[in-house]
Amino acid sequence: MSVLSGKKIVLGITAGIAAYKTTYLVRQLIKKGAQVRVVMTPSSQEFVTPLTLATLSKNPVYSSFTNQTEDTLDWNNHVEIGLWADLLLVAPATANTLSKMANGVCDNLLLAVYLSAKCPVYYAPAMDLDMYQHPTTKNSFVKLSEYGNIQIPAAYGELASGLIGEGRMAEPEDIIAFIEKDILKKLPLKNKTVLITAGPTFEAIDPVRFIGNHSSGKMGFALAEQAANLGANVILVSGPTHLSVVNKQIKRIDVVSAQQMYEAVHTNFSTCDIAIFSAAVADFTPKKVAVQKIKKKEDVLSLELVKTKDILASVGAIKEKQFLVGFALETQNELENAKNKLKKKNLDLIVLNSLNDSGAGFGKDTNKITLITKDNKIIPFSVKPKTQVANDILQQIIDLTYA
Ligand code: CTP
Repeated sequence: MSVLSGKKIVLGITAGIAAYKTTYLVRQLIKKGAQVRVVMTPSSQEFVTPLTLATLSKNPVYSSFTNQTEDTLDWNNHVEIGLWADLLLVAPATANTLSKMANGVCDNLLLAVYLSAKCPVYYAPAMDLDMYQHPTTKNSFVKLSEYGNIQIPAAYGELASGLIGEGRMAEPEDIIAFIEKDILKKLPLKNKTVLITAGPTFEAIDPVRFIGNHSSGKMGFALAEQAANLGANVILVSGPTHLSVVNKQIKRIDVVSAQQMYEAVHTNFSTCDIAIFSAAVADFTPKKVAVQKIKKKEDVLSLELVKTKDILASVGAIKEKQFLVGFALETQNELENAKNKLKKKNLDLIVLNSLNDSGAGFGKDTNKITLITKDNKIIPFSVKPKTQVANDILQQIIDLTYA
């Protein structure tokens, strides 16, 4: 899967002959799983039609601050478009637009979007060789790089003028490969291994029955996907769930019982950099598993249960470089209980879920958490979808470890 999958991309098109190649660029970005909104400078519409780009991007194409129809006049909100974007790509980027970007000129919608965007900005210059070499163009490159904008180098070859030299816009597939590589290089969890436990455990009573709990595994799976999206190699040790993983960077190990989870975690713990324990592990397991199905001969059945091994505490006791994160699901004295668990199990961070909070709990798609760090920093969050909660947890881990 491409790192561009799910990314929201604003493609800014300026008036260069290479604009005709943006039809292919849009198609390729969509094929990679990105969402694309196109913003054109007015003159670029002479090189490629907005209708073609709207059809390919499956979104309206914007080129002026307003949209005039017979009886309405709508405002194209450049701030909204700029803030929507995960990345802005200006391709082709003419000498004129680059100079305006470098100097804060804002005389069209694309430039207003550029000035409003908070995301990474990539640009693919396209111009004749002498324009490419001109000191003012070089000045623009220097300034844009100072602002953190990323240049996708122009290629050498035949130019529209018939001259041969540097200045051709990079080919669409090269633009995409450049951006993918750049994103991968900058992923904060690149080369890190993250071990995650998820879901419930089932403790067998006899061949057909077990003691389980209501954990769906959604929080752990969301953490695994987000960690993989941030570049990590993920080992997901999962109890029984109906969920499946999407990202190929995730190695999934399926287990059933607390003992199997314990063994899978210990096999993999020494190689991980970060371990996050979101599984709802059974605290007790039947002392004996009946070999045959238990018949209902008596009115009362007593099961003798013994404590399972506390997996998190067991790795807390042996951890070296690993950043260790636990979960605490509490119904009373939440903060105090969570802080005690953090200390007792030798954690670096604990994620507190309170069952008293609406929007938190088993099987839900949302969660409400409070993070507590080893040095007693308490960070509350609002109710959010579990994917965003996963991101909040991972960002906090990154801030505490690698920032
Ligand atoms: N955990 C674990 N192995 C267990 C029990 C819990 O790895 N046998 C982990 C959970 O994945 C979670 C954390 O420990 O990250 C807290 O689990 P919890 O059940 O809330 O805490 P306990 O220590 O079991 O305390 P109590 O049940 O008394 O609240």
